[in-house]
Amino acid sequence: MSNFIKTVPGEFGVVTVSIDRPEALNALNRSVLFELKLELERLAQDQTVRVIVLRGSGEKAFVAGADIKEMQEMTRGQAIEFSRLGHSVATLLESIQKVTIAAVQGYALGGGMELALSCDFILASEKAQFGLPEVTLGVIPGFGGTIRLSRAVGLNRAKELIFTGERISAESALRLGLVSKVYPQEGFFDEVMKRARLIALNSLGAAISAKNLLNEFSESSGTNQKIDAETHQFGSLFGVTDQKEGMAAFVEKRPARFKGL
Ligand code: CAA
Repeated sequence: MSNFIKTVPGEFGVVTVSIDRPEALNALNRSVLFELKLELERLAQDQTVRVIVLRGSGEKAFVAGADIKEMQEMTRGQAIEFSRLGHSVATLLESIQKVTIAAVQGYALGGGMELALSCDFILASEKAQFGLPEVTLGVIPGFGGTIRLSRAVGLNRAKELIFTGERISAESALRLGLVSKVYPQEGFFDEVMKRARLIALNSLGAAISAKNLLNEFSESSGTNQKIDAETHQFGSLFGVTDQKEGMAAFVEKRPARFKGL
């Protein structure tokens, strides 16, 4: 039984998978990631499932990132393992033989934005906010952000977003091409479901053939090496001064004072 993942089957093979940890803005700790991975693996085998809508519970967040309180005490080795786990979920969302839609209302930050980027496309409510704030914590994106953000918005914009760590609105994300559509907050999930059903009524076999080709053609090559490189860079920043300071500052609710180490 899942503690943090709630799946609701809908009409025409559309299922909604909710990350359900609203008290921590659905932050991704090891248990959440592990349960999400198991659930996606289960759905991958279910022939009745055509479209997976991924969302967060509550109105405030899709997912506010990897769990900083859990990461704070991680060793390099543990951070590498954690990054591998996040990557395995992201790769599943990207490659699963179903259509995956990220339905984002509220915050999609850090690892949350990375999971959204791994879905086939992102639909956002007007109140959604996106960002990769890892550098403000003394680390880097660790669930594929250095690989998938530049694919979505271009190299220079990806650099700017990652170096500043700033949050952008749904409208800005739409202009950048990060999200496909923005809907009013009221009735957001109804609009998402309409779109999901539109896809579910088409041929799944044809959509998945197209998905596999689109993924393959957009790939510049060497994804596994890139994932490995990101994982190791992510891990290498753990246990050094800036990571300790950045994460302690978040937990203590104060600005970080980085030393550049
Ligand atoms: N990890 C752990 N706990 C988190 C969290 C996170 N990423 N985001 C929010 N929370 C917790 C808060 O600590 C708080 O808990 P308490 O009530 O126990 O204090 C609760 O969720 C509610 O959050 P806030 O009180 O902070 O809510 P807010 O409305 O004032 O602010 C926010 C919302 C701007 C999203 C703020 O919570 C925030 O900045 N969160 C962190 C965002 C972030 O940096 N994400 C990236 C993480 S690093 C990462 O993801 C690495 C990777 O690539 C793998």
